[in-house]
Amino acid sequence: MERLQKFMAHAGIGSRRNCEELIIQGKVKVNGQVINVLGTKIDPERDKIEVNNKLIKAKEDMIYILLNKPDGYVTTSQDPQGRPTVIDLIKHINKRIYPVGRLDYETEGLLLLTNDGELAYRLTHPKYKVNKVYQALIKGRPSNESIEQLRRGVLLEDGLTEPAQIKILDKIGDNTLIELTIHEGKNRQVRRMCKAVNHPVLNLKRTKIGSLDLGTIKLGSFRFLTEDELRWLKKGVGLG
Ligand code: URA
Repeated sequence: MERLQKFMAHAGIGSRRNCEELIIQGKVKVNGQVINVLGTKIDPERDKIEVNNKLIKAKEDMIYILLNKPDGYVTTSQDPQGRPTVIDLIKHINKRIYPVGRLDYETEGLLLLTNDGELAYRLTHPKYKVNKVYQALIKGRPSNESIEQLRRGVLLEDGLTEPAQIKILDKIGDNTLIELTIHEGKNRQVRRMCKAVNHPVLNLKRTKIGSLDLGTIKLGSFRFLTEDELRWLKKGVGLG
């Protein structure tokens, strides 16, 4: 049960104060009956609420979670093989949320989980060209030609990849840490691109999606997005 004015405010009718005024003015009906006293409690699942004779629908609370995904978790809600899923890492959230896009079982790093279908769609659909940034430890030392090939586009079995930004970050032993910025999201794209130029990925981590940065959050931990992070993320895909 929930107070009528709280339900109305949540549904976007106005501030709680505005909603109280509407109730007092007799503009609100519960199951067809005008309710003009404050303090009435309603059952949002069952009761029919009208304001100025228009039916009000409850807005689902939106949740936005940033997870630092560890190696060894699948990015689905359930796995037929019974492997651990990223949802197992999100404790005490009793709303249905789902991952935005996928990271491979072995890939680490930034994964966004939400129940905001529109934002999820826009962040993953290629037409919105949202940049995703990855750090890949690749085998060996790539030549300038290999790096140029990754930049220009690599021919994979499902077509040529679009131009990517590539930076060399470090040399680690015989291997090389590179940063790739891509926006397509083909299946196992980074791994396949690097393999195609003969430098297979040894370790892969996503560090950014659009304006959203993984930051220093511990592997396996999660947090809610800040209001600023959400505003910028949405702005980047033409929402709000
Ligand atoms: N590219 C990959 O190859 N794997 C991922 O998990 C993400 C991007």
